[in-house]
Amino acid sequence: MMGRSMICAAVLVLMLVPAPVPVIAAVDNVAFQWTDLLSTLMCSQFAAPLTAGIQQQLHLAQWHSLLALRGIGGGTTEEAVVAYASWKILGHYFSFAQVLDLQIGPLLDTQLREAQVTLPQQILAQRIGETVAMSMIARRGTTSSEFTLGAVKRALKAAARPPPTGVFRFFDDSPAGQDAATFFFSVMTLWRPFVIPDPVVFVETYLANLRPPKIPSKEWDDNWEGLKNIGRLDWPGRTAEMNLTANLIGCPRVNNNKCHFEQQATAAAQSALPNGTSLYDSVLLLAKISVTQYDAGIAQSILKYGFWFWRPSQAYQEGDSKHAPIPNWTPFLPTPLEPEWPSGTVTFVSAGARPLQTFIGSGKKVSFTIEGGGTFDCEGFVGDPVPTRSYPSLEAFVKEAQLSRMYAGAHFQDAVNDGVVVGNTVADYVESHWGQVTPSGTLPDLAFLNVMFTVPNKTGDFTPRSLDVK
Ligand SMILES: *[C@@H]1O[C@H](CO)[C@@H](O)[C@H](O)[C@H]1NC(C)=O
Ligand SMILES: *[C@@H]1O[C@H](CO)[C@@H](O)[C@H](O)[C@H]1NC(C)=O
Ligand SMILES: *[C@@H]1O[C@H](CO)[C@@H](O)[C@H](O)[C@H]1NC(C)=O
Repeated sequence: MMGRSMICAAVLVLMLVPAPVPVIAAVDNVAFQWTDLLSTLMCSQFAAPLTAGIQQQLHLAQWHSLLALRGIGGGTTEEAVVAYASWKILGHYFSFAQVLDLQIGPLLDTQLREAQVTLPQQILAQRIGETVAMSMIARRGTTSSEFTLGAVKRALKAAARPPPTGVFRFFDDSPAGQDAATFFFSVMTLWRPFVIPDPVVFVETYLANLRPPKIPSKEWDDNWEGLKNIGRLDWPGRTAEMNLTANLIGCPRVNNNKCHFEQQATAAAQSALPNGTSLYDSVLLLAKISVTQYDAGIAQSILKYGFWFWRPSQAYQEGDSKHAPIPNWTPFLPTPLEPEWPSGTVTFVSAGARPLQTFIGSGKKVSFTIEGGGTFDCEGFVGDPVPTRSYPSLEAFVKEAQLSRMYAGAHFQDAVNDGVVVGNTVADYVESHWGQVTPSGTLPDLAFLNVMFTVPNKTGDFTPRSLDVK
């Protein structure tokens, strides 16, 4: 039985034709230029800027600098304050001379020159940009993981084997398996969200109906059958398109600043936004995308480690009361190290797409392009060039991410369906609570902004301040 996903695949292949001509980014401004530089710097470390927590700080500091400028009512330009705020954030996290002198400093200089700001305007912009950035860093400075990959592997190895049916405890002890296990792993469950309240309470309140399939059940039978062929490395029906779709999201790229799928959300925004989108709108949207993805990352992690559902490789190899094991079942891409349900990748992709869809207007279709370039770096695919990809809509973009994780053999159908629910639910919550005081917050410290950037008239009247942040 081929199931739903194969039908979707056929439709998708028709929709996703390669772009005939490379499409130039539709919007370009200082905020996107710094986003690009952050991606470049992170990709040189083979790391993801979102999950490192830096991208949120970059975009929020950019936004705060514009709010501060509004508070003052002028005196310098929007471009200049955003440039200085960004320069300070990146300079803090990439403080070695080579990068500062050769990449971070020159971008600031170029932007100031292009903005044609006078010296007094520069001085004011620097004061605003630096102070909001330092306040941001003080509040959200990144923390490092207390667990090393080695410790995680040892813990998994020490756990009882074989685990009960349906319980994730995948650990491939072979040398190949140990190499493959260098996939992204993190203690996201312990992160401090920006907007959602306590993440466990959030999950219990807004995502209480979500759960992985029960084993045995009809639902589980469908999940099993639906992935059995398409996720498998050696299925004779695999097409080049399926391979490519799996690699687009599942394989990091080398020699390109979209090395990780996380970078695709801001790339999609840059491509989809009309030329002429204001700097303020760009910055606010970027901040919402980054913050939503971060908080959604926490929510999916709470679910993953709450349910500990097994990965396809483990499920097929071990079998269950109704399905005979398939001992040599091998996924197309190496199995990630965390539990299966829901798909974190799909959560991130939908969490990134949703704010953009809301900005454009829900239900409105927007076509856009994700640039190609670089080569895949995945087992068996080292060296394949990454093509430019055109999408007729954000929906198609999310759909491709879903198929990608199934063609990789990493996720069952339910996990990719529910990943969209998690991403969208967090995105809608963030959208409707944006600008409100929330646990660790997206807003600048109001008292700080007032003291630093506005000199109130001493009338003796009570004139509480509020920000117009929507
Ligand atoms: C965007 O619009 C500006 C001003 O109309 C124009 O100079 C520029 O070439 C446009 N950029 C793109 C990428 O279309
Ligand atoms: C898809 O990838 C598999 C595994 O590397 C390979 O054996 C197969 O030939 C590929 N299929 C096509 C049509 O390229
Ligand atoms: C201070 O008072 C002046 C004169 O009434 C007014 O123009 C200005 O907007 C006030 N500034 C603030 C920050 O309220």
